[in-house]
Amino acid sequence: MPHVIAIEDEAASSLAECDDALSVSGFQPEDEESLHHAALQLRRLGNNRTFLGDLLIDELKRQHADDGGENSYGPQVIMLRPSGKGDFFIRANIWPSEDEHAMRASGGGAFVYSQPHDHNFNFLTVGYLGPGYWSNYYEYEYEDVVGYRGEWVALRFIERSRLEQGKIMLYRAHVDVHDQMPADALSISINIMHTSGAQAWLDQYSFDLENHRIGRIISNGSSEAFLRIAVGMGCGEARDLAEGFGNSHPSDRMRLAAWGALASVETDLAARDGVWRAAETAGSRLVAAEAKQRRMELA
Ligand SMILES: [Fe+2]
Repeated sequence: MPHVIAIEDEAASSLAECDDALSVSGFQPEDEESLHHAALQLRRLGNNRTFLGDLLIDELKRQHADDGGENSYGPQVIMLRPSGKGDFFIRANIWPSEDEHAMRASGGGAFVYSQPHDHNFNFLTVGYLGPGYWSNYYEYEYEDVVGYRGEWVALRFIERSRLEQGKIMLYRAHVDVHDQMPADALSISINIMHTSGAQAWLDQYSFDLENHRIGRIISNGSSEAFLRIAVGMGCGEARDLAEGFGNSHPSDRMRLAAWGALASVETDLAARDGVWRAAETAGSRLVAAEAKQRRMELA
């Protein structure tokens, strides 16, 4: 499960001080010293019991006047320090309880409850307010997984616990899986998220815990959608590109998207089956397994 980081410090810092301290050295979660430094900054920001409330009141008074896209505010996420410069961003997450209006109106899915998943990034989190969301924690071996829907995974249950106020944890990319459940009362966590250029190509999965299987890849990027639209619009160049990507793109996920785009424009079932038959032998285990499933669905 995520590593609980015991770090004591009485000092409190502002968001700007936290940002400055992290911006100087960056956030490299694999590096022990950098991790400790970031955890200390998170501890100090968490010790500041007023900054988040002040920030929200300020935004409400100004009616989001500066909210031009850099800062995003949604029902669950408050971006505190956007990504763009450096290798991290900071955000606050809101975790409603069962009896919150937002839960009744939108359902738990809108807050990632009961949607078991791993993460394709490392991040530090601290319980900032409230009793914290619950999680059933599991671990698995990313290297052993191909990533197709329904693939069996050796998930190991670790424990059920919650992110209480003041608890700091490191969620490890491609290791920790959690199934979140509503907090017992409205809760807030603050995260320092690690970002890297490669992240978009690393897969994040949903899981079927009952059957120990991969649900699906949930880290789809915009490139897959762009390719599908371009092919769908009938541009010949897009078709050539999709065929190239399907056979040789370094990302299996992109290869699959390319074959999916090519199949999507075939109206005839036999022609669609032909696309997936070609995909089966295109040199990717993920694509081959998915292609087999698509052919069975067509049949
Ligand atoms: Fe998560």
